[in-house]
Amino acid sequence: MKNLDISQILKDGKSYEGKTVTVAGWVRTARNSKSMAFLAINDGTSLKHLQVVIDKSKFDDETLAPVMKNGVAITADGVVVKAMKEGEYELNAESVSLLGDCPADYPLQKKYHTMEFLRTIPQLRVRTNTFNAMLRVRSKLSFAIHRFFQEREFCYIHTPIITGSDCEGAGEIFRVTTNGYADAKTAKDEAEYIANDFFKRKAGLTVSGQLEGEVAAMAMGKIYTFGPTFRAENSNTPRHAAEFWQVEPEVAFAKLDDIIGIATDMIKYIIKAVLDECDEELAFFEKAFEEGLREKLQHVVDSDFVVLDYGEAIKILENSGVKFQYPVAWGLDLQSEHERYITEKVFNKPVFVTNYPKKIKSFYMKQNDDGLTVAATDLLVPGVGEIIGCSEREADYDKLKSAMEERGMNLADYEGYLDLRKYGSVPHSGFGLGLERILMYVTGIGNIRDVQLYARTAGDLM
Ligand code: 4AD
Ligand code: MG
Repeated sequence: MKNLDISQILKDGKSYEGKTVTVAGWVRTARNSKSMAFLAINDGTSLKHLQVVIDKSKFDDETLAPVMKNGVAITADGVVVKAMKEGEYELNAESVSLLGDCPADYPLQKKYHTMEFLRTIPQLRVRTNTFNAMLRVRSKLSFAIHRFFQEREFCYIHTPIITGSDCEGAGEIFRVTTNGYADAKTAKDEAEYIANDFFKRKAGLTVSGQLEGEVAAMAMGKIYTFGPTFRAENSNTPRHAAEFWQVEPEVAFAKLDDIIGIATDMIKYIIKAVLDECDEELAFFEKAFEEGLREKLQHVVDSDFVVLDYGEAIKILENSGVKFQYPVAWGLDLQSEHERYITEKVFNKPVFVTNYPKKIKSFYMKQNDDGLTVAATDLLVPGVGEIIGCSEREADYDKLKSAMEERGMNLADYEGYLDLRKYGSVPHSGFGLGLERILMYVTGIGNIRDVQLYARTAGDLM
């Protein structure tokens, strides 16, 4: 491939000025004047397009007509020259040719489409500016996450996708089975149905890599996982997807305070990376989705996060004078409207809510001495709500076992997990950051369906 990336010419035009280069891309707009034609082409390496300037006197109509269309793929040779606008460069075409035609029924003819419409064409919506910018930010953000942990000697662990346990105990597991409809009808009961299945026991897609991440941390000390997780949550909200990516560090010898420190440093680090590396994309999102976006992100990098006890959060909500749709009382979970009130109205920055009642949280969380709460925290941010679920883990064998029994869990499924408390147990903590949630926060895109290449939600598998 001898094509030059368009991003190279746009970023570093000066060093190509006067040189003949070859580019390739898809035509985003084609304009005609009497003697000249202009093609804005994009090859995906940058948000901005390259202008290809065509002196019509040098080309015949048979060459020009096929490339002067929205959506066609073309290649062009030409000389890089200064554009009218100071500091910008364009290509004076010497030859252009069609690589792939694009008929008039191409759905992206207009400049603006609703996000809802674009969801119906996932195979093409990636060619819009919004998805171009979102996917590049997603890529930079992911790499910054790896960099953060790698620079701190965390070991990157690949935990299994197929599991026999339910980490969050919420029963939102997608079943994995090779059994079919007929097998279900012929089995005399569920036990026989499962005994005839591939794994000979109930299997599902993981909701979180945490349990296996803890196994790895009990040997490797500091680990992180970064991969897809799956939840059959039937909640049709802008923040829930059935398939989403999670970053899950797990740290041996760390208490709740330590892990809150790591989470804070990581959030600031990755947001700063996006500010440094994706200015053009953020400027675009600022115009299209959220005013003041870069200022908001800079504010997060510069400010201390709030750490607020759950009990205090309840008091703030009770005294707010606001009529919430859902009830507020000690012992009840915070709903999205409550989370938003706390982060948006009270603090206007990220807030760690700590020490939730144990009844509303998962079995693995460290039980506090008060007998009522657990050493858990959620990080809430304005606009999105919860982006991180975090806790110190219960390291005491008996306490963990009784928490599992209280929830009616089948201990046999978690024998290996309990073993960690039997053999050299140590305090340890970890968290899960939802990649799509933080991506929504840094781009201002309001719906999780629009920060994934393909969105997987209930009733929708495009
Ligand atoms: O709070 P959650 O359920 O915590 C866990 O899964 C822990 N096992 C993590 C850990 O300690 N290792 O989920 C963690 C995060 C949430 O804060 C949210 O950002 C995201 O995962 N998340 C979802 N994102 C999109 N769609 C969904 N259905 C999500 N459910 C959780
Ligand atoms: Mg949570």
